[in-house]
Amino acid sequence: MNQTAEMVHIDPDTLTNQERYKLLIGSILPRPIAFVSSISADGILNLAPYSFFTGVCSTPLIVCFAPMRRSVDGEKKDTLRNIEAVGEFVVNVVSEEIAEPMNLTSGEYPADVDEFKAAGLTPLPSEKVKPPRVAESPIQMECVLHQVVELGDHIGSGSLVLGRVVAIHYAPGVYENGRVITSKVKPIARLAGTSYARVTDTFDLARPVV
Ligand SMILES: Cc1cc2nc3c(=O)[nH]c(=O)nc-3n(C[C@H](O)[C@H](O)[C@H](O)COP(=O)(O)O)c2cc1C
Repeated sequence: MNQTAEMVHIDPDTLTNQERYKLLIGSILPRPIAFVSSISADGILNLAPYSFFTGVCSTPLIVCFAPMRRSVDGEKKDTLRNIEAVGEFVVNVVSEEIAEPMNLTSGEYPADVDEFKAAGLTPLPSEKVKPPRVAESPIQMECVLHQVVELGDHIGSGSLVLGRVVAIHYAPGVYENGRVITSKVKPIARLAGTSYARVTDTFDLARPVV
């Protein structure tokens, strides 16, 4: 795109927190969704979607996601509290089939509500970590907490949670000969506002040989 007079230039420091947030979620997209299961020290199960989510490196196998502080009171979200208390979590991939229950778990329920029950999803015992997996999810990654990077303690701030993947589970048909079959996963991605995207219009590009 050319730099022309019609371009809009914004200094994010001149915006309100809400305006910055809207530009953040409108400018980085589509975003994959980590559907994170965790468990409190008292054994209460928790589920919540996080689209500030990506992989980091393969050896060690690290993924990360970023829970912001709660927009009502600046407190930590339950997912982060649980992970700090227990040191383990599961990242479940969100397929089209579980889009609606995933969305249900994004309500800010009190900490004593079992969000598997609230969403009608099935907890499946994990092999190596305490929080259960989401049985209906096509890919489940069991993670051990590697590090939490705190970026503030006020509304608008958040933390980066880095986890080491210690086990990966694939639903039947999703994993074939060392490859993951996207058409079987049917992942969805988050866009701005309340919009989502399917991965149905893809194309290939060969990497240059230099
Ligand atoms: C698709 C989707 C993606 C979301 N991504 C994030 C995110 O990356 N960071 C965040 O702080 N909240 C995110 N949220 C909001 C949280 O899911 C919501 O605050 C939730 O209640 C947190 O639950 P918890 O307190 O049980 O951890 C997202 C919500 C949806 C529906």
